[in-house]
Amino acid sequence: MLEYSKKILITGGAGFIGSHVVRLFLTKYPEYLIVNLDAVTYAGNLENLKDVDHLPNYRFEHGDIVDEKTVDSMFVTYKIDHVIHLAAESHVDRSIMDPLSFVKTNVLGTSVLLNAAKNSWKDKPEEKLFYHVSTDEVYGTLGKTGYFTEETAYDPRSPYSASKAASDHFVMAYHHTYHLPVIISNCSNNYGSHHFPEKLIPLMINNILNNKPLPVYGKGENVRDWLWVDDHARAIDLIFHKGRPGQKYNIGGFNEWKNIDLVKLLCRIMNKKLGRAEGESEKLITYVKDRPGHDLRYAIDAGKLNRELGWKPSLSFEEGLEKTVDWYLQNQEWVRHVTSGEYQKYYNEQYAKR
Ligand code: NAD
Ligand code: DAU
Repeated sequence: MLEYSKKILITGGAGFIGSHVVRLFLTKYPEYLIVNLDAVTYAGNLENLKDVDHLPNYRFEHGDIVDEKTVDSMFVTYKIDHVIHLAAESHVDRSIMDPLSFVKTNVLGTSVLLNAAKNSWKDKPEEKLFYHVSTDEVYGTLGKTGYFTEETAYDPRSPYSASKAASDHFVMAYHHTYHLPVIISNCSNNYGSHHFPEKLIPLMINNILNNKPLPVYGKGENVRDWLWVDDHARAIDLIFHKGRPGQKYNIGGFNEWKNIDLVKLLCRIMNKKLGRAEGESEKLITYVKDRPGHDLRYAIDAGKLNRELGWKPSLSFEEGLEKTVDWYLQNQEWVRHVTSGEYQKYYNEQYAKR
């Protein structure tokens, strides 16, 4: 193990964003050992990494971040000196159905990881880092104007965002109390390949393709700030290497869309790709009962990250959406695998009542 200059534990590497982060680090830094600890829940999929899992600096560990023995053993076996923590329950609608599993993984799981890092990192804090990947949802909701900055007070409003906010607080508590070197980044909505089709964009792509109703919550007036997933991975890379311990960084796309406008844009793109007449897919749009406690608007001020580290998004939304649609059309086998079994049960429960 001594030959690797950093030994990084990445949690949740089989998920959507985690797989992009693992791929970037494995290929860009062959001198780093990357250990991917993932429980492979319904949202995790080892197929996401099949193009890189043969690389010599990759190790996969199937395990739960809530389990202290498993987590402690990672630090002993691999002499882990850095953590990039992405493992989480991540879907707001599921958190409304089953809040306690979010408390367990997001709050307890993060605390177990922090504790293991604290106990095993006794010296040389300058050579260690616990990087916690969090969300803009911890800030609550905005009205029609304004932005979330790093100074915005936390005001989470769903069980998901409350569990992420609690995990952020634990990260900062370990920093202040035990001097654990930590960084938190809070990012807006990601989109791109390997996105599980319970989330808005991949769900809509899948339903447009299969001529199924497009369930728009409420009036479709809610606004999200969308970022290409590889731009998030690049931001994590930059912050991991150049960010200041003890700091928080907001990451956003400078790219706000009302849900209904976004769904219509997807319809237009897919009408062209599928050879459908103008306006054809739009007929599938169905307004359904709103999400309880639905946050109206998220918008990130990513100025600090831009000023301090020079980061900005690389792709326009139109370009990114085209690439995303192409990926889904070309990877229908991936879609078939992840939408069989458990997904059907979830989909029926989630949308039957709306
Ligand atoms: P995801 O749901 O696609 O993947 C989560 C991964 O974590 C899966 O591989 C799953 O198997 C694993 N996991 C879940 N519970 C686990 C446990 N107890 N032990 C070990 N592994 C477990 O999530 P995502 O969308 O890729 O999000 C990754 C992280 O980024 C999360 O922390 C999320 O809060 C945060 N985030 C997501 C977005 C977004 O738009 N998706 C935006 C900002 C921040
Ligand atoms: O802002 C960052 C967050 O973005 C991440 O922390 C979460 O992990 C991620 O899931 C995402 O949360 P959202 O709730 O914003 O994403 P979702 O894709 O579930 O919904 C996006 C918007 O679309 C939201 O306003 C709800 C709406 N929506 C969603 C679904 C699934 C619909 O109108 N219909 C749908 O079927």
